[in-house]
Amino acid sequence: MRYPVYRMRRLRKNQTIRRMVRETSLTPSDLILPLFVTYGKDVKKPIGSMPGHFQFSVDRIVDEAEEVSALHIPAVILFGIPEHKDNIGSSAFDPNGPVQQAIKAIKDRVPELVVITDVCMCEYTSHGHCGIIKDNDVDNDSTLELLAKEALSHVRAGADMVAPSDMMDGRVSAIRNVLDENGFEYVPIMSYAAKFASAFYGPFREAAESTPQFGDRRGYQMDPANTDEAVREVLLDIEEGADIVMVKPALPYLDIVRRVKDEYGYPVAAYNVSGEYSMIKAAVEKGWLDEERAMMEVLLSIKRAGADMILTYFAKDAARILGG
Ligand code: PBG
Repeated sequence: MRYPVYRMRRLRKNQTIRRMVRETSLTPSDLILPLFVTYGKDVKKPIGSMPGHFQFSVDRIVDEAEEVSALHIPAVILFGIPEHKDNIGSSAFDPNGPVQQAIKAIKDRVPELVVITDVCMCEYTSHGHCGIIKDNDVDNDSTLELLAKEALSHVRAGADMVAPSDMMDGRVSAIRNVLDENGFEYVPIMSYAAKFASAFYGPFREAAESTPQFGDRRGYQMDPANTDEAVREVLLDIEEGADIVMVKPALPYLDIVRRVKDEYGYPVAAYNVSGEYSMIKAAVEKGWLDEERAMMEVLLSIKRAGADMILTYFAKDAARILGG
């Protein structure tokens, strides 16, 4: 049927009709808020490159967690900024590290909030790479042991879920094994399965103080040109026991989100990363974009592409608008 018998505009006539035919919806339950936890007391230090975000000390992060939960956001993901960094990132599995303490404090105060932890070495190594350096390169197999130790220490502290983000080969099974051996068979793994070597992580590296001191991450993160490889990465992680698979970043990779969702039907998370947040904030500061509309359109597009959950620095703002 064609014009003039059929007119697409009939179903766009008013707000109520548009609401009836809307195919995708967004709710606070779709959102996960990343939070940065640091050492010290009474710290709430603004992150210059990410307006509205802070490094929190443990005593201050619990108030934030309470606010997040009150907005009906189901989960946070924690990133740690340790007091000491060394070559092998040993504070990553310090039972008294900022992340481990924050997990306990949050689960104490807001038990219903799901606490996910980012499992990676880059915030803990003096060189800023995601693992142990051998011959000027990140050594895969020795890094796995550290990642497994880090994940276990988070789960021992009470983390509900762990999210390895390093892109080493075999890390999902290394973590699954160590969790199972220690009686944590029911703790899920959200794997950063297809993580691309992206320019959009820039602001995060200031936030987490994790910029590589030499070279870059292209030897372990994915080439932005590749789709089939992303699908293979996801398949491997599923075979190793990942419960949720993540695509990261989100906006420049919505095609990958869709393909992964269609191919496997697994729960898919998409990470709307720091650069995707900061570029909207910067444009809004200049008066070039309407913040609320730009933010909601971006989040909706990620959902429409097939994501079941979205890690986003906009989580609180969006949840407020969605009536969280
Ligand atoms: C690595 C990690 C990174 C991000 C999440 N986990 C940075 C990187 O790979 O360099 C980026 C998140 C963002 O940009 O918002 N631990």
